[in-house]
Amino acid sequence: MNLPNLKEAKVRTNKDIKIISDDYKVPSSMKTIGKNKKYYIKTYGCQMNVHDTENIKAILEDMSFTETLDMESADIILLNTCAIRENAHNKMFGFLGRVKHLKESKPDIICGICGCMAQEESVVDDIKSKYKWVDIVFGTHNLHKLPFILEESLNEKKQEIEVFSIEGDVYENIPVKRDSKYKAWVNIMYGCDKFCTYCIVPYTRGKQRSRRPLDIIKEVENLVKDGYSEVTLLGQNVNAYGKDLKLNYTMSNLLEDVAKTGIKRIRFVTSHPWDFNDEMIKVIAKYPNIMPYIHLPLQSGSNKILKLMGRRYTKEEYIDLFNKIRMSIPNVSITTDIIVAFPGETDEDFNDTLDVVNTCKFDSAFTFIFSPRVGTPAAKMKNDLTEKEKNDRLYKLNELVNKYALLKNQEYLGKIVSVLLEDFSEKDGNLMGYTDTMKLVNVKAPKEYLGKIVDVKITDIKTWSMDGEIYEKV
Ligand code: 5AD
Ligand code: SF4
Repeated sequence: MNLPNLKEAKVRTNKDIKIISDDYKVPSSMKTIGKNKKYYIKTYGCQMNVHDTENIKAILEDMSFTETLDMESADIILLNTCAIRENAHNKMFGFLGRVKHLKESKPDIICGICGCMAQEESVVDDIKSKYKWVDIVFGTHNLHKLPFILEESLNEKKQEIEVFSIEGDVYENIPVKRDSKYKAWVNIMYGCDKFCTYCIVPYTRGKQRSRRPLDIIKEVENLVKDGYSEVTLLGQNVNAYGKDLKLNYTMSNLLEDVAKTGIKRIRFVTSHPWDFNDEMIKVIAKYPNIMPYIHLPLQSGSNKILKLMGRRYTKEEYIDLFNKIRMSIPNVSITTDIIVAFPGETDEDFNDTLDVVNTCKFDSAFTFIFSPRVGTPAAKMKNDLTEKEKNDRLYKLNELVNKYALLKNQEYLGKIVSVLLEDFSEKDGNLMGYTDTMKLVNVKAPKEYLGKIVDVKITDIKTWSMDGEIYEKV
């Protein structure tokens, strides 16, 4: 048993990061353990977690399990969890109640918890004492060890907890079962060293570790060969890519090299304004296959709050960067993340945030009420706001954000845009996909168009999506 430790999770040393490129192998004793058995996996949180789930699926299939979307018929149920806010916690514990119920009638079901919550000392303490029926718990640093952890739990018939609070290594060659045939997630780095005062990620995901450029480029080249049209380069803070490699090779170099692979569409998330330099802007503007879409978290528009958050930029610097991006990249769309009701946020501070929204008129924004996370500095800061005040601020912010989202979308009415049709739409008989600027479009098109990048004429606009039809040149 290895339990997470908050103190150790904070540690950052100068130790070199180990890159482990051994071939991935499931032990022979586990190769057929899942024969005629099914797995069900539920994923919470960000794209990083979604991609981890793609790895976990491949590992389970290497053990002969097959996937089911019906939890009731599963032999193994895994919850890949998110720790970013309290409601992610609550959702997962709520769901765990349903699993418990199922396990009462089918005691042989294996239940596992992994992901960011598994890295939290306070959560694992709870699982150990109050959820003794959970069979396995493993963290973000050792998901590739799943076959060994499962074997141990089956042999010992007891709860197996294997979580490491370490800075972390980089594992190449973990197998992957991708959800889509057209677009793929590609990790370019793991972890984060920014330690914004509200954020749990540096503790749950470890030290910033960039993958080697050649490993990333090889992965994208293989995706091109396999017929993929789009890659999203993933990291908690992609603009800092390469800083830890000491190769004098940065995110702008990587973007340029990935663009040269010829993949049709490149996206990247998430950016931190601090590391967003002119070189990057130039490269994005230069290559048509780097999509004109940037997610640039603001978090707050008040300089006082930004300082308390440890964000390392001012409102004015953010707006300058925003304008530079707008001016340099034609047709760019910019979205953001905003937290309201951070400890110490006065009406005036909140108005500063509204001010920046009015200045930048974001294409869209994810908005959140501050949620204290155990172990982070902000969790200890005094917060005098009532629940009503917090909710009122969120409501007011959302109204403004939605107004600009609709206005931005209205600019698309009647326009011809390019869309990668990636799936069936919820609307009958339609397909759906995203524009280069990341606008969701429902397109009237036969299923033969699935997987194609097509010209679409926009016929109707909503706040969060648009409708369109295939545009045929005459
Ligand atoms: N409370 C509320 N929102 C948070 N985020 C990160 N940590 C917290 C927290 N403790 C938001 C930030 C981040 C997004 C992924 O989640 O806005 O950019
Ligand atoms: Fe992703 Fe962060 Fe949530 Fe972990 S805590 S799943 S890294 S959003």
